[in-house]
Amino acid sequence: MAVIITVALGERSYPIHLGAGVLDRLPETLRGLGVKGAAGLVTDDNVGPLYAARVEGLIREAGLRCVTHVMPAGEEQKRLTAIEAICGTFLDGGLDRSSVVVALGGGVVGDVAGFAASAFMRGVPFVQIPTTVVAQVDSSVGGKTGVNHPRGKNTIGAFHQPRAVIIDLNLLRTLPDRELRAGMAEVIKHGVIADADLFAYVERHSAAILGGDLEALVYPIRRSCEIKAAVVAADETEQGPRANLNYGHTFGHAFEAVTGYGHFLHGEAVAVGMCAAGALARLLDMVDDAFVARQRACCAAYGLPTVWPELPVEATIAAMRKDKKARAGALKFVLPCAIGQVVHRTDVTEDQVRAALEAVRASA
Ligand SMILES: NC(=O)c1ccc[n+]([C@@H]2O[C@H](COP(=O)([O-])OP(=O)(O)OC[C@H]3O[C@@H](n4cnc5c(N)ncnc54)[C@H](O)[C@@H]3O)[C@@H](O)[C@H]2O)c1
Ligand SMILES: [Zn+2]
Repeated sequence: MAVIITVALGERSYPIHLGAGVLDRLPETLRGLGVKGAAGLVTDDNVGPLYAARVEGLIREAGLRCVTHVMPAGEEQKRLTAIEAICGTFLDGGLDRSSVVVALGGGVVGDVAGFAASAFMRGVPFVQIPTTVVAQVDSSVGGKTGVNHPRGKNTIGAFHQPRAVIIDLNLLRTLPDRELRAGMAEVIKHGVIADADLFAYVERHSAAILGGDLEALVYPIRRSCEIKAAVVAADETEQGPRANLNYGHTFGHAFEAVTGYGHFLHGEAVAVGMCAAGALARLLDMVDDAFVARQRACCAAYGLPTVWPELPVEATIAAMRKDKKARAGALKFVLPCAIGQVVHRTDVTEDQVRAALEAVRASA
């Protein structure tokens, strides 16, 4: 069964097509955009060999020429030189202001291709075809695009909303197991911040989801997109409620930074980060022990890390301090008060943060 979710942003509203097989809607989607000439397809060297030929065929079905750029896979490729390379392929292939960009891949491809689309010829439309759980439940929706700078992750970018997102669950069949599990951390996050029923569903269906039952993923991916779409519609540029999506990320980003982005996948760092946020909320008496145990058990059911015996407490605090300085504000935490409900706290002391980190390290 396929569904359409709308991201409501006035005249920049766009549909998310979700279901097994919805990739077939690409030709009509492209025809509806009024683009002509050529489409620039951006993918990486893992996803390209699996799906690019099929997508190229669908682009031609829409009456467009296809110019394909295959970038090497990996977070290290999310850098400005990738933008220059993509624009080079587009220029060589004769793309112009009436062209469209199609991103086929995980969050890295989506962020890079989206940023290229925002800048090429001062902005051309783009369509997202996310192929990882992270990209399907998070990065493809919301219009944040960009690349990393050696001095900081996601520090160069633009808001550039896609014109459509096509989430075909069949594309997940080839996704490595560890990537699937890491993506589920963002789904669990959506449950904790906004939807107790989603959380309970994810809790109950871990065996089916990890066993490759794609039907079991329809509901959690749909709800995740709806939650993200609602938050983005209310707060496109992240002044207020969009910050809820950062649950587990203040800690998670610091864990990624202190490990040099090589140790944890992003979703794994978020899982430990949610456990740290849970420990902090427990210390502040916002939740009880049952909340902490339940959140941890759910992450553990997906094979996600929930404790980190080697956690470098002081280095993590230093990384958080640096991040806070970069954003020129108080250290802000999104903390749970129940499954499905979070609040923002700016009054947390460094000693409380330290105690929460020690709890995550010691509970091994
Ligand atoms: N823009 C946003 O709002 C937003 C939100 C969350 C994350 N992100 C970004 O997303 C990135 C992480 O995304 P990700 O987790 O998708 O990582 P990724 O794009 O690196 O993909 C993970 C790996 O899976 C491979 N892969 C992708 N789809 C596959 C498939 N269907 N079959 C086989 N292999 C496949 C990729 O080649 C890669 O090796 C980070 O850079 C993060 O900053 C952005
Ligand atoms: Zn995330």
